[in-house]
Amino acid sequence: MRIPRHVAIIMDGNGRWARRRHRPRVFGHIRGSSRVKPVVREADRLGIKALTLYAFSTENWTRPDTEKSVLWKLLKKYLQSEKEELGRMNVRLGVIGEIERLGPDVRSVLDPVVEELSGNTGLRLNFAISYGSRRELARAARLFAEDCVTGRRKPGEMDEKILSSYLWTGGLEELSDVDLVVRTSGEVRVSNFLLWQSAYAEYVFLDECWPDFSPEHLRAAVDEYSRRERRFGGIGGTG
Ligand code: IPE
Ligand code: IPE
Ligand code: MG
Repeated sequence: MRIPRHVAIIMDGNGRWARRRHRPRVFGHIRGSSRVKPVVREADRLGIKALTLYAFSTENWTRPDTEKSVLWKLLKKYLQSEKEELGRMNVRLGVIGEIERLGPDVRSVLDPVVEELSGNTGLRLNFAISYGSRRELARAARLFAEDCVTGRRKPGEMDEKILSSYLWTGGLEELSDVDLVVRTSGEVRVSNFLLWQSAYAEYVFLDECWPDFSPEHLRAAVDEYSRRERRFGGIGGTG
């Protein structure tokens, strides 16, 4: 099997999964958060180098406070309960997104765990939290303009590599391009996720909602990926 280097997952469908069971939406978030651990393990086992998980978008801030507070609780719980295991797995943890919008209670858990695991050399696990691709691109343009004003950069230097380095994924360096994007829940859209980084990604859309996602689904998506011919605009093997 050809293993993608960077896999990104849009973990969607928690609310619908719960509603179908006549339970409140947050029930789906609780079950959904428990799906992260086995998927991280499987990604590591498969030899995937970077795994980016879309946990909360810039647009998700419009959701009710009650729902958001459950999501933050679950994020804190995940980090607290998993940090040791992630450390043992040599996972390097990162976050992409406007984390300055997160409350101090979340930051006080998130920042030390990221710091603790940032020196590791294994799988790069990135949580996209308060992430939006348009926000990321606008921010990159602003940071570059500021560097031009202070003389660190010249406008004529701007190219694809330099723009990439100003994105939140800039720290991923050669892994910043996404090879495979998986979206659960049957929705066939991108929802402001890694627009630049997925320019030549393969997409796999699954009908299962995120609370039903298992390591087998990840393997099936990787299998599907390995059967695709990526041509990058060329004429490929049959040309
Ligand atoms: C994904 O599930 C989790 C987040 C976006 C935080 P949803 O909450 O979007 O569930 P659906 O799509 O409404 O079913
Ligand atoms: C995308 O799902 C964001 C995450 C999974 C975190 P949404 O549920 O927010 O996307 P839309 O609203 O269906 O496009
Ligand atoms: Mg959704």
